[in-house]
Order: sequence, then C-alpha cells, then structure tokens
Amino acid sequence: MRSFLASRQGVIIVRLFRGNTVTKHVLIFDSGVGGLSVYQEIRRLLPDATYTYLFDNARFPYGELSSEELIPRCCALISALQAQRPADLVVIACNTASTQVLPTLRSQLSVPVVGVVPAIKPAAQLTRIGRIGLLATPATVSRPYTEKLIREFASDCTVLRIGSTELVLEAERKLAGSAVDMNCLQRVLSPWLVDEQSPDVIILGCTHFPLLKEELHQVMPHVQLVDSGAAVARRVRSQLELVPDRAQGGRESVAYCSKRDQNALRLTPALNRFGFEILRELSL
Ligand code: DGL
Repeated sequence: MRSFLASRQGVIIVRLFRGNTVTKHVLIFDSGVGGLSVYQEIRRLLPDATYTYLFDNARFPYGELSSEELIPRCCALISALQAQRPADLVVIACNTASTQVLPTLRSQLSVPVVGVVPAIKPAAQLTRIGRIGLLATPATVSRPYTEKLIREFASDCTVLRIGSTELVLEAERKLAGSAVDMNCLQRVLSPWLVDEQSPDVIILGCTHFPLLKEELHQVMPHVQLVDSGAAVARRVRSQLELVPDRAQGGRESVAYCSKRDQNALRLTPALNRFGFEILRELSL
C-alpha cells in the first residue's frame, strides 16, 4: 500500500492507493473539435485524469440550431455516454450549448456539470479604450444569457459582436489538416479592421476560436484575445476535489463522435496528438 499527502489551501487530503490508481474521469463535450481547446487547459492542470471527449458531428454546427433541438440532443447524448462510461464530472466545452442546456442537463445528471461562457468580465477589466469585441457563434452573440453577462459585467463598455459559423468551420478544417483560409478570417473580422471601430480586446466566445489564435493574431496583431479555457480548468479542478475518489484502473482516454463518417476520421490524427488514440461512435 502506498500513500501520500497532498496539501492545497490548507486542506490535507489523504489518498490510499490499493493496487489500482485513483484517477478522476472527466467527460468533455462539444459539437466538434472546439472542446479540445478547453481540454488542453484542463489537462495542463490535471495531467493524470482520464478523459473522454464526445463531439456531436452529426448535428454540427450548433451555432445554427434552435434551443428546441439543441437542449434534448445534448442531454440525450451525454446521458447515453454516462450510462456506458460514467465520468466523475462533465464539461460542456461549448459556449453555444452552455448558454442553453446547463439547467436541464444538471437536473438529469448526478455528477457536477461545468459549463463555459464568454469571458466578458475579464475582457471588460482588460480594455483600455472601453471597446471590446465578442467573437462567437451566431447563436451565442444573440442569446439572452450573453445579454445578461454584458449588462452585469460590461455595462460601461461598448461590446461589438460578430457571430460567425465560417470561423467554426475554419477551425475544423485546420484540425483536419487543411490550411486556414486567411481571406475568410480577414472578411469575417473586416468590421473591426477600421481604426475607429477596432476593439482592443476580443473575447473568443466560441471554444473553436482559441484553435485559430495564431491566425487571428496575424489579422489583428495589436488586439488582446481572451477566452475562458483556463478559468474553466480551475473550476473543474476545484469541483473534482469535492468528488469522492473511486479506485479505478488507469483507463485510456477515448474520443466519441456521433457519426463515424469521413470527416470524423479526418480528425483522428489531431485527436491522437491530443492523447485520444481511439475514436468510437456513440449512437442513440
Ligand atoms: N464550439 C462551440 C461553441 O463554443 C460551437 C460551435 C458550433 O458548433 O457552432 O460555441
């Protein structure tokens, strides 16, 4: 038997290892590859956890779906996977889904659910000119939830909005190994390329967009880009500390798609690089 003491914020946690390793298991969900940007931040803080990555490529892109379709769809997929491969915590690594499904999903699951919302509060604190840009999906830029965040945290700022599915598609293409179309980025961002309309801070309010950070920087080099990935990772770590340890064998990290088609298979090299060696289909 091996044991060790870990101390964090004055709390002493004693963990007993009896043969099996105690690892926490986190399920990360998105419509596509965007959730990998959040997963990266979580894995940085929790490198020993087991991860399951679920993406709903059959109904992608979520930014174009109605709440009536989105809410039951996300709940059904996540519940089905929880029944097969139960995780200790679920992360909705999608702004579009988080702004709509969290209350329903939480009422259906017995494990904690962490969502991601646009980093409006940090952006409002960072801006020097009082003009910030919200770059997200068409759904997220117009959701009442987003309006509420702006009223609450950025009421003294001008919040410019661009809702774009094109950029979501570019991020998917990039991870599938294709070159990013810089003309597309230029076109999408064009309203902000005029000096007097330019924000000094841009919120990447879609989890696909941190995957395009380098390219976005090329188009707008003087702008600060902020996202919620690191904050979500800290939240996941603190929530997991409250979840009781269960002894489990070191399980492998697995990715699930909702449709194992050619497009999903094109993502396998990228999924492998992120540590997901296996891609399975989850059918409802
Ligand atoms: N990655 C997602 C988000 O954060 C959704 C992109 C989409 O499917 O439209 O909003």
